[in-house]
Amino acid sequence: MSEVMKPRVWLDMDPGIDDAWALVVAMNQSIVTGISTVAGNAGLQNTYANAKRVLEVVGGRRVPVVPGASEPLLTPLATAPGFHGQGGMGEWNVSTEIIPPEMTRVWTWWSQHAGEMNSTHLIATGPLTNIAISLLAYPHLSTIWASVTCMCGALPGAQMDKAQEFNVYTDPHAADIVFHWAQRVQLIGINVAHKAVIPMSDLDRLNRMGEVGHMLEKMLKFYSQRARGEGGDPRAFPIDDVVAVAAVVRPEIFEWREMPLAVVREGPLRGTVVLSPIDVRRSPVRVATDVDVAGFRDWLWEAMDCYEEESW
Ligand code: RIB
Ligand code: CA
Repeated sequence: MSEVMKPRVWLDMDPGIDDAWALVVAMNQSIVTGISTVAGNAGLQNTYANAKRVLEVVGGRRVPVVPGASEPLLTPLATAPGFHGQGGMGEWNVSTEIIPPEMTRVWTWWSQHAGEMNSTHLIATGPLTNIAISLLAYPHLSTIWASVTCMCGALPGAQMDKAQEFNVYTDPHAADIVFHWAQRVQLIGINVAHKAVIPMSDLDRLNRMGEVGHMLEKMLKFYSQRARGEGGDPRAFPIDDVVAVAAVVRPEIFEWREMPLAVVREGPLRGTVVLSPIDVRRSPVRVATDVDVAGFRDWLWEAMDCYEEESW
């Protein structure tokens, strides 16, 4: 894909193993203008360090990595070591980095660089805490993004089981603020992301992709053993965050519907995404209702081709 054709994106994420694969794919499918990290799968010091370590492997040292929130707005942080390991990267690498208290946080960074963000697509694959804070602190930031694609929640009514989706459950208040104030929001819910699963047998392909492939293979061996069957097939596993990148780079492989959304913020249904009450004016969210799974898989491995070692 020519550089001219590639969309400009900013990744707000909580790496996290599927976040890491989303970062790797975004680096060759789009122009990554920056990465911000948030507490979610692991603590902020881990997610910040992880984003920098993965960027080093994919040759993205020049991409700015900016820290965000170390806690959800109002709910206690509960990380996900069961899926992503203590440090967030499975058994690939455990790194952490002390973030100086005076270091600029991403909401301020976005406000200071708002003029450079035009035509940039924001892709959020962690809790939406950073975006919510940015909208409350600098309301004009709701207009700077070409789109705001969130991997979170589920299509109203499609929540597959009692456990709510991790990103919106971790910070339901932030998700509700984003659905209320942000514009041009797209939602990749877990009900659609869990359709685009990858066969366990495909992991072998990563071993022919040099250092990037070996990094992902080590992470995904850990993750796939824990996430297999989440989409219903025990021989396959979901990579939810990579689906969010596909939503920006290949929107045509999805079906979409527009609807105003809200989030249940407290109680046993905390984190459930619902149709917004009609008395609240909210910009409709473009919600993915289905995905062409074969089309997603074809796109993913085409995107990974550039890492394939020359077969002599
Ligand atoms: O529920 C899936 C989401 O939660 C993904 O973004 C995964 O990385 C975790 O953050
Ligand atoms: Ca994530």
